[in-house]
Amino acid sequence: MTNPPETGRSRDSAEATGRRDRSQTTDRQDPSATTDRQDPSAVTGRTPDIDTDTTERSTEQVSATSGGATRKPGSVSRRALFAGVGGAAAFGVAAGAGGMAAFGAEAPPAATDAEDIVDLNVTVPFYDQPHPAGVATAPQRYTVYMTFDLAATALTQDLQVLLARWTAGIAQLMQGESIGAVEPDRPDAVATDTGEAEGLGPASLTVTVGLGPGIFTDAYGLADKRPALLQDLPRIPGDQLQEEFTGGDLSLQACADDPQVAYHAIRDLARMVTGTAHTRWAVMGFGRASAGPGQQTPRNLLGFKDGTRNITEAADYDRFVWLGEDAGWMSGGTYQVVRKIMMTIETWDFDRISDQQQIFGRTKLEGAPLTGQAEFDTPDFAATTAEGDPVIDPTSHIALAAHENNDGVKILRRSYNFTDGMNPEGLLDAGLLFISYQNDPENFVTLQQKLGRFDLLNEYIRHVGSAIFAVPPAPRTGGYIGQALFE
Ligand code: HEM
Repeated sequence: MTNPPETGRSRDSAEATGRRDRSQTTDRQDPSATTDRQDPSAVTGRTPDIDTDTTERSTEQVSATSGGATRKPGSVSRRALFAGVGGAAAFGVAAGAGGMAAFGAEAPPAATDAEDIVDLNVTVPFYDQPHPAGVATAPQRYTVYMTFDLAATALTQDLQVLLARWTAGIAQLMQGESIGAVEPDRPDAVATDTGEAEGLGPASLTVTVGLGPGIFTDAYGLADKRPALLQDLPRIPGDQLQEEFTGGDLSLQACADDPQVAYHAIRDLARMVTGTAHTRWAVMGFGRASAGPGQQTPRNLLGFKDGTRNITEAADYDRFVWLGEDAGWMSGGTYQVVRKIMMTIETWDFDRISDQQQIFGRTKLEGAPLTGQAEFDTPDFAATTAEGDPVIDPTSHIALAAHENNDGVKILRRSYNFTDGMNPEGLLDAGLLFISYQNDPENFVTLQQKLGRFDLLNEYIRHVGSAIFAVPPAPRTGGYIGQALFE
């Protein structure tokens, strides 16, 4: 392990000096019926219809050239999507430069744009996959992320039924279908599906379910099923966590190329928890901050390309992301770490460009390491200037996080930009919904312990939310997520 350089500038020193010198689930049921003690098999005992007209987007982006998607007549190009209705209205992000930049001020497309296509007819496979959807799936453009706490009165069977109902609902939603009647026959009936995704395509929707440490207890008879490495994250230097954005017993990560499709999925799945759980915190993200094959590297709200060096190779997925056979019922699954990270955008925007580039160790426009010319040039952390100083600051973000300086450790980053509008002080309330997947949460902890202590970026960011979840393997047809827990 390469230790953080002692000569590097720490956050403290920077602060001290104040400156830097460099269905039809279709179970069509009333969602309020979820508290019923049901037989889960009654919920999942059907195979969802597959619309063969839709294009499948591979969940295994590593083996695909453009996330598994092919362009069909009627596809919407990336530029056209942003120029069109887009999603700003759905999220109410019109206020503030962050939101406008993300939705409106799209730069002219680069040469690779021909491959970077948004096809709203694409579906992602859900059942019978080697791994859960929404992890290796080429990142979609939007996310809605929500966590839940189990109700004090919830029984093990309630959790079982909820997971079964979620599974059936997710299968329908990922096919671009409603989860039940929008307009029930009986005039006094309550609609099962809320309807706002009617007429919208599947938009590559994935919904990834996470199980928090709190459910693996004796209270639910699940203590002996606890995934071996699932425990609350330790306190990490620099954490400024707020209770209202932290923790959760269950999580849903919905990602789609249409924000309303992602929102609808979470909204309708959240309706199913009534009586069993209640919502804890949520983030609506846009502008994916990671890339898959065929996708241009997107930018975070600090204006830098984010996702340049990420896990892309199948061998790295096996080594660092997926749990192996020895993980028992979790085999094929993974661990999800989520951090809600606020950015002090106004301060950042007045920082000089050389400083911004020093902080990341990369150039802003090209995204090249400061030791190279092009985005994908390998950083040379040993290179020095004529004066003998490192070209890439040892306390820059990439120097601290790179696998070369961390005993080879890698994590899969699948993050999204977010904005909550303005804060009470009238400043932009925005940041990064950092989501990482790894087969050992300690790998995240190792990186964040270094970043939290030494990262030059800390002057401009604050980790205010945090959670960890086990992501079970993909369900089998006719089964449900986490089924092995109850067998
Ligand atoms: C607001 C917070 C963050 C921002 C704005 C940010 C931004 C960036 C940027 C611009 C890059 C360089 C481009 C790239 O290779 O993707 C990068 C790289 C990276 N970041 Fe972050 N990041 C943040 C938080 C984190 C956190 C919390 C972790 C993990 C604990 C992390 C881990 C990494 C890793 C592993 C790399 C690749 C380094 C390399 O191999 O060169 N980042 N990040």
